[in-house]
Amino acid sequence: MRTETPVTVYRKDYQPYPYDIPEVALAFDLAPDATEVRCTMHVQRRPGAGADAALILDGEELELVSVGVNGKALPAGGYELSAHSLVLHGLPDDATVEIVSRCKPSANSTLMGLYVSGGNFFTQCEAEGFRRITWFADRPDVMSRYRVTLRAEPQYPVLLSNGNLIATRQLPDGRNEVEWEDPFPKPCYLFALVAGNLTHRETTVKTASGRDVLLQVYSDPGSETKTEWALDSLVRALRWDESRFGLELDLDRFMIVAVHDFNMGAMENKGLNIFNAAYVLADADTATDANYEGIESVIGHEYFHNWTGNRVTCRDWFQLSLKEGLTVFRDQEFSADMMAHGMDAAAAASARAVKRIDDVVALRAAQFPEDAGPMAHPIRPESYQEIGNFYTATVYEKGAEVIRMQHTLLGEDGFRAGMDEYFRRHDGQAVTCDDFVAAMESVYVRQHPGRDLSVFRRWYRQAGTPRVTVTLEHDAAARRCTVTLTQACPPVGVEKKAGPDYVKAPYHIPFAIGLLDRNGRALPLRHEGAVVDTALLELTTQSQQWTFDDIAEAPVPSLLRDFSAPVIVDYDWSDEELALLSAHDGNPFARWEAGQELATRQILALADARQAGRTLQADTAFIEAWRALLTDPKLDAAFRARALALPSEKTLAERMRLVDPPALAVARDFLRAELGRQLEAEFRQAFDDNQTPGAYSPAPVPAGRRALKNLALSHLMAAGEQEAQRLAEQQYATAGNMTDSMAALSSLINYGQGEFPQEALTAFYARWSDNPLVVDKWFALQAAARSTTVQTARELMTHPAFTLRNPNRARALIFQFCLNNARGMHHPDGSGYAFWAEQVLALDALNPEIAARLARALDNWSRFVPTLRIPMQAALQQVRQHEGLSRNVHEIVSKALEFAA
Ligand code: TRP
Ligand code: ZN
Repeated sequence: MRTETPVTVYRKDYQPYPYDIPEVALAFDLAPDATEVRCTMHVQRRPGAGADAALILDGEELELVSVGVNGKALPAGGYELSAHSLVLHGLPDDATVEIVSRCKPSANSTLMGLYVSGGNFFTQCEAEGFRRITWFADRPDVMSRYRVTLRAEPQYPVLLSNGNLIATRQLPDGRNEVEWEDPFPKPCYLFALVAGNLTHRETTVKTASGRDVLLQVYSDPGSETKTEWALDSLVRALRWDESRFGLELDLDRFMIVAVHDFNMGAMENKGLNIFNAAYVLADADTATDANYEGIESVIGHEYFHNWTGNRVTCRDWFQLSLKEGLTVFRDQEFSADMMAHGMDAAAAASARAVKRIDDVVALRAAQFPEDAGPMAHPIRPESYQEIGNFYTATVYEKGAEVIRMQHTLLGEDGFRAGMDEYFRRHDGQAVTCDDFVAAMESVYVRQHPGRDLSVFRRWYRQAGTPRVTVTLEHDAAARRCTVTLTQACPPVGVEKKAGPDYVKAPYHIPFAIGLLDRNGRALPLRHEGAVVDTALLELTTQSQQWTFDDIAEAPVPSLLRDFSAPVIVDYDWSDEELALLSAHDGNPFARWEAGQELATRQILALADARQAGRTLQADTAFIEAWRALLTDPKLDAAFRARALALPSEKTLAERMRLVDPPALAVARDFLRAELGRQLEAEFRQAFDDNQTPGAYSPAPVPAGRRALKNLALSHLMAAGEQEAQRLAEQQYATAGNMTDSMAALSSLINYGQGEFPQEALTAFYARWSDNPLVVDKWFALQAAARSTTVQTARELMTHPAFTLRNPNRARALIFQFCLNNARGMHHPDGSGYAFWAEQVLALDALNPEIAARLARALDNWSRFVPTLRIPMQAALQQVRQHEGLSRNVHEIVSKALEFAA
C-alpha cells in the first residue's frame, strides 16, 4: 500500500452543502462479520444550489449493496462510486435516497465507525467516522432528525441509540428489534449505537422545570459496583448546568456507556455518551484520587456538550474550539465549584487555586511546547490534512483559556449574559467561533462604551505563546509606580512559511497584577476608579503603561495573577523577591508561581552543573523557602502538595536553550533527594500528620492530605533512608485505597532496595490481573520507572497481558515510556528513538489516530542537544519514508521535519 498524497483542506474554502437532509432513517442488522445498514434519507436541494449540483456522499471501507431514488433501484451506471465517495447526479429537488451497504465491525481496529469491543458493538463518529457506517454528507453543518432501527441476536440484549426508545419487539427469527428516535436535528458525528450484554445503574431526577429524566450508566456485567461515582457525577453536572448557566437537560433520557477500547476520553453523542471505561469505573480499591477527579470532570465535559456542541454545533471542523474550548472552560469551572463546595471563603479560594494550578501545569506541559513546535496552530486552525490530528492541547486547553479571558473581561454576570445571547441567537444552528465572540461582544460593548473585541479576535487566528515583558519604575519623590507591559509573539510553525514579511498583530491581553511592599503586605491600588488588591490591566497594543499612586517604596510585583492570560511573563525578580512572594503573596496562584520559579531556577542551575561535570549542590535559600512552605500552618495540604511539587521536566525543557532531558532528570532527582535529606524531620512530620484513616473518600480535603503525605514519602524515599523504606512497605501492605497503594509502590520501585519492590510488583499483578484498568497502572508505573530501559520496555511488551490493539494498554506502556521516561527514551545511543519508530509503524497499521499521537513525541526534536537531535531526526525520516503510512502519521512526521524550529 502506498502512502496517499496528502490533501490540505483550508478554512477559507468553506462552501455550504448544496442539499438539506432533514430526515434520516437507519436500519442495522448487526453481526460482527457483516453488518448491513439501510440508510434512507430525505434530501432537498437548497434554495441557492444549482440544479446540476451533485449529491456527493462520503464513505470509507464500505461494501455497496444497492442505491435507490424514490423507491427505484439505480442501475450500476446510475451513480459514481469511488474509494471515498458515492455521487448522484440529476436528482429531483426533493427525493428519498436509499442506500444499502455492508461493513465489518469485527475487523475494525481503528475504533472509528462501528466496531466490536469485548464482544459488544460500539460506534465512534467524531470527527469523520460516520462515513465508515454508511455513505453520507459527513460534515457538521448537515443536520438531520434520526430514526434508528437496531436488529440483533439475543446475545446482544441491550440495544441503544440516540434519543427516546419508541418500540421494542421480538422478530420471528428470534432476534430482537428496537427503534429509537432523536427529536433534535444533529450532525452525523453525534450519531451513536451500542449493542451487547451490559448491566446498568440508573436514577430519575427532576429538572429545574419539573420534568422527570432517566439517567443511566451502562457497563460490563460485574462492574455495576463501580459506577456509583459516575452516576453521582452526572447528577451533579446536570444540577450545575442548571444553576450556573440556566441550561436544562432537553431529553427524557440520558445514557453513558463504558467501553474498554476507545481512542480518547469520551464522546458526547446526543443522549448516548460513550466513554473510555477509565472515565467511568471507580471504587476505592482500584481507582486513585486522580481517577475520581478525572471521572467527574469528563462526565461534566460530555454532559455540558449537550448545549455547547450539540444544541449549538460547529459549522465546519476549523471551528472545533467553538465547542471544545468552551466546554473545557465549563468543565474546569464545574470541577472548581465542586472542589470549593461547602467550604468557608478562605478554604474555597485555596481549593479553586489548586484546580487552577493543576490546569495551568497541564497547559504548560502540553500546550506551550505544542505552540512552540512544528504543529503550532491557532485555536481555530487555517488548514489541516487530517482533522483527527487537531484534537490538540491548543484547540482544547488554550481554547479554554481564550474563553476564560472573555469571562475575565466581561465578569461572571457579563459572561452569563453573553452565553444567554449566544443561545438566543444560535440554538439549533451550526456556527463559527466568530459567532460566539460576537455574542460576547454584544455585552462587552455595553459594558465598555467605545471598546470592542476586534483585537481580542486575534487569539483565534494567530498561533504561538505571546511573551509579555514587564518593567517597573518607582519614583520615590512622587510616590508613584509605573508599570510597562510590552508584548511579542514571533511567527511559529506554519506561520513561518508565510515568509519574512508576515507580521503578527498584538493581542488583547487581560493582565492581572498586584503590588506587595517589602514586608509582603498587599498595597492598595487605585485603578479605574476603585481601590483594589488586584488590578486588571488590558494590554491591547504592543506596549502600554499604567501608573499607581501613593506607593511609598519600590514594590514587589505579583504578575499574571490566576494566570489571567496564556502568556509567558518576563520579569527579572531577584531570588529574594521570589521568596517573599512565595511566602506572602495574597493571591494563592501567584504565590505558587513564585515558588515554582525559584525551583525552576534551581533545577536549571543543577542541570547546567551536571552538563559541565561539576558537583551538584542545592542552594540554601531555596531549601529554606521549601521549608517555609512545608511548615506553614495556614496552608492546607492540597495547596502545599502543589506548592512543593517540583516543576515537570516538560515545563523545564521549555526553559532550556538546548533540551537535555537526561540532565534535567538527574538534576530533578538530585533536588528531590536533597530536599528529603535536609527537610527529613519536616517531611516525616507531614507524613504522620496527613494520614487519612477510616473509610475512603475522594473529597478534596482527604485527597489533598494524601497528596502531601505521598509527596513527603517520595522525598524521604529518594533520600534513601532505611526508615523511609519501612514506611513505604508498611503503607503498601496496609493501604485502604489505590492512591496510597500506587504511591507506595511507585516510591518502592523507583527508590527502594532489596527484594520487596519486585515482589510487590509481582503480587500486585497477581491480585489485579482481571481488572484491565489496574493492569494499565501496573504497566504505566514500570514504563516510567527510573531504571526502565528500552530493553525493559521491550520485555514488558512480551507480557501476555500486553496488546497494541487496546489504546489504554498502548498508552500505559508505549506512551509512558516515550513521553515520561527521560532516561530510557533519550538514551544517547538512539535506541529509544528506534523503538519509537517501530511502535509508530506498528500502531499505524492498526489505529492511525493513536499512532499519530505517539508520532508527536518527537515534535520538538530540533531543539534538543545535538547528540539527541541527530538520531531523533533519523528516526523521523525513517517513519516518513515508510510506504503505506496513514494520512494521520504522514501529516505529523512531515510537519515535524519541515517546520522544525
Ligand atoms: N468530542 C470528544 C470530546 O471532546 C472527543 C473526541 C473527538 C473523540 N474525536 C474523538 C473521542 C474520537 C473518541 C474518538 O469530548
Ligand atoms: Zn469535548
